Amino acid sequence: MESRNFLRFLAISLSVSLVLFFTWVHLPYAPQPNTTTDLLYCSTNSPWCTSKNRFQSINKPSTADNILEKPPNPKHHKVHNHESDTPHHPLDPLTISEINRVRTILKSHALFRSSSPFAFHSVVLEEPDKTLVLQWKKGDSLLPRKAAVVARVAGKSHVLTVDITTGEVAVQETGSRSGYPTMTIEDMTSSTWAPLSNADFNRTIIQRGVDLQDLACLPISLGWFGESEENRRLIKVQCYSMEGTANFYMRPIEGLTVLLDMDSKEVVEISDKGRDIPIPKAANTDYRYSAQKINPEMMFVNPISIEQPKGPSFTVEDEHLVKWANWEFHLKPDPRAGVIVSRAKVRDPDSGEMRDVMYKGFTSELFVPYMDPTDAWYFQDVYGCG
Ligand SMILES: *[C@@H]1O[C@H](CO)[C@@H](O)[C@H](O)[C@H]1NC(C)=O
Repeated sequence: MESRNFLRFLAISLSVSLVLFFTWVHLPYAPQPNTTTDLLYCSTNSPWCTSKNRFQSINKPSTADNILEKPPNPKHHKVHNHESDTPHHPLDPLTISEINRVRTILKSHALFRSSSPFAFHSVVLEEPDKTLVLQWKKGDSLLPRKAAVVARVAGKSHVLTVDITTGEVAVQETGSRSGYPTMTIEDMTSSTWAPLSNADFNRTIIQRGVDLQDLACLPISLGWFGESEENRRLIKVQCYSMEGTANFYMRPIEGLTVLLDMDSKEVVEISDKGRDIPIPKAANTDYRYSAQKINPEMMFVNPISIEQPKGPSFTVEDEHLVKWANWEFHLKPDPRAGVIVSRAKVRDPDSGEMRDVMYKGFTSELFVPYMDPTDAWYFQDVYGCG
């Protein structure tokens, strides 16, 4: 990828997954009052099910926590302690001990020894060159392990490469680059309260009949929308009314977008073009089972269980190598790219040999913009990590 676009790409990435994670972790919810949800909690009916539903399990710590801590079927739920992981393949992600080593190395680096605040926005494997990875075979010694680090120190971004074995740190030139490191959880948290420091913002919220106590503001998609935004880490914030509903996404304060500087926490601009757009009513927006007025004939309380009674049809070797039918590929999570599939091969039906299909692919290459050019929507997308 062209280096000029690299940081920009970083900035766009992660946005949706972070928003979803952030919503999950930080935003308010109404506790679940009734017990019929037991029936819908999948672990009640399937030993293989470990998904934890925030809304259904909130009053059920015993059920939900037990299933995660004490798996009912050890054969299918090996609890793996990742502390002692070691890399087996040149593309394996950094292990916990490698990340700790990177931290130790960087702690003594000149960039981080001053009293200026700093944040590591990304610490991932710096993948070896493709030619070397292609030559590597199982049993060969591992290629030198390096970390690619994006750090921000005193309002400046830095891209570093850390050699985990030698401790050598190479600082890349970032002056000529545009783009910014992606948001941190702290950046996201501040965007929920920062708009309230602006009197115009408060005024327009009150004018729309929303009590400031009922306000929920969220950082939506990141992006770069022109020269005027250059050299600043900006985020557009969308707000909702939480009044009378657990489902505040149904009550957007439409046509109001706050442009926020994530470094200074300052409101840069308020686009307020939707004053005439009413906020949807709270009635009938609650999606939770307990809130549904369901005709008894339509009750769907019998359990559904989706299982693979003989286990999955794929195997995983050395933590990251997946074998499934006539396919084989290396799989790893990446905070920027999402899931990365590498070295995908298929057994050629003619030759019987494994044939290379794809060197590397990102799930985040799926991009779904809403394609609405109006002011409040043109920057939004779903599943869009650029
Ligand atoms: C906006 O309202 C919030 C909540 O009532 C308040 O804490 C904040 O000080 C207000 N901001 C300004 C600039 O008046």
